[in-house]
Amino acid sequence: MYPFIIFGGFLLIIIKSWQWCFKRPLGCPPGPPRMPVLGSYLQLLFTNYKHLHKAALKLSERYKSKVISFYLGSVLVYAVHDPNGIKEVLSSASFEGRPGLFLSLMRHPEMKTAGIFFNDGHVWREQRWFFLRYLRDFGYGRRFQTFEQVISEEVQDLVNLLREGPKYSHEKRVVKGNRFLAPTVFMPFSTNTFFEVLFKERYPRSEHYKLDTLSESGALFARETSEYGRLLSMIPWIRFFFPKWSGYNSLMNANIPQYNFFKRKVEYYIKNFTNFDEEDPSFMDLYIRELKKDKIQDGFEIDQFIFNCMDFTLPANTGFPAQMSMILQWLQIRPMVVRKIQEEIDSVVGNSRLPSLDDRKKMPYTEACLREGMRIATLLPSSVVHLATEDTTILGYNVPKNTPIIGSLHALHFSKDIWDDPKEFRPERFLDSEGNLCLSKDKSLPFGAGKRLCPGETFARNLMFLMITGLLQNINLEVREGDTICNPLDNFTGIITIPDDFWISYTCRN
Ligand code: HEM
Repeated sequence: MYPFIIFGGFLLIIIKSWQWCFKRPLGCPPGPPRMPVLGSYLQLLFTNYKHLHKAALKLSERYKSKVISFYLGSVLVYAVHDPNGIKEVLSSASFEGRPGLFLSLMRHPEMKTAGIFFNDGHVWREQRWFFLRYLRDFGYGRRFQTFEQVISEEVQDLVNLLREGPKYSHEKRVVKGNRFLAPTVFMPFSTNTFFEVLFKERYPRSEHYKLDTLSESGALFARETSEYGRLLSMIPWIRFFFPKWSGYNSLMNANIPQYNFFKRKVEYYIKNFTNFDEEDPSFMDLYIRELKKDKIQDGFEIDQFIFNCMDFTLPANTGFPAQMSMILQWLQIRPMVVRKIQEEIDSVVGNSRLPSLDDRKKMPYTEACLREGMRIATLLPSSVVHLATEDTTILGYNVPKNTPIIGSLHALHFSKDIWDDPKEFRPERFLDSEGNLCLSKDKSLPFGAGKRLCPGETFARNLMFLMITGLLQNINLEVREGDTICNPLDNFTGIITIPDDFWISYTCRN
């Protein structure tokens, strides 16, 4: 009798374990089995530990489904690889939420959600809208002459640094013997353009070192996080046992300086706020005025203020330079493309002034190169993870409320159905037979879409055009003996794709 009971019990355990590992809720997309504690994380790592978005795409092919699901720890996550499905994830209001990742909570001294990136619901909507309304007047929606002048001054400073060489000791770290260090060299210049918007304050070249901590901690955060939140997000208690290995220590080394920098700024502006400048208010003035109206229910409180500043500065300080460097990596190995951009610059702009936004329409090839660069070097290959805010469906699969869902920009940008030869850097794909830019051919979405569309898109596209054309007007990229050429298709993926610091050789153009 006993052997039968033991055998029956044993069988039951095996069946239940099998079901637990392999069975999915009804209407759920297929995906790898799960294991205790880590879920399907190990399968993802085994498939491609360096690039989880590539691992997810591979699993999608293996399970022959454009939507797959996998467990990260105990949480079931969906990843969508079909172009229409991706657009739906990005644009539908049912997917506008964000999961409360431990990585995002860690940024706050009291482990709270604040800011824009990782926030959702009423507070996120109010805060995002407030920012957008202000940014619109600063070249983030429409043209704004004064701001364009500021960008032009920053580009001129960058060009001077490369042409004349370092003038201050801190610049010797990023420019040496006609070589510059990307992405670090760009960080103070792009941060300055955004600080003009935020604080109406910029750091002159002589004081760029004051931005070092911000840039270093921004890059550390980008590199130490991962698209899916790292092991720390799945089993946060791991930090107590392996604070170094789990990345907890490095992330705190990134979070604390970021938080302190903006906390000090916010406190300074609140303390020195005297009169509201009706004529020319800064973002700080406007926000402080809202703080005084006691609108905590809409998120107008000090913490949110600090994190808004952090969340908008991080992409300008780290994301933008990373994207620009990845485009330069492609240009480094495509000298013919550079030559064609330079021909366009020489004929439209000449060399007596820097390129301006008015030139942009007349430079379709350059514009096509930048679009191609942002497609092939996707800054956020998994976008930022969304969350279903209600029970809904995607491509026929059930999506329960609170399911994290990824609209893979990598899959969209590398879809053979859309691009034929997605791994080729081929700007011509965006041009018609006459060489005119053909926007209808651009199916890429490097800035996302819909309610979560990147609020910095116009600014980033404008700044990218002005900086890259300003550079190529003044320098030639070179590959010298001993230079390491990185494979641009294999850059490091943290929360964004960001290359390790690398040197680019150049010579000055006459
Ligand atoms: C080339 C540069 C950039 C690229 C490719 C880029 C791309 C993106 C993408 C894909 C998202 C996520 C959209 C989603 O969740 O579906 C995003 C979000 C965001 N971006 Fe950008 N971005 C860039 C530069 C900037 C800049 C310069 C700023 C600010 C000045 C900025 C501010 C933001 C903010 C605040 C969000 C969060 C929006 C939200 O969750 O509501 N970005 N960006």
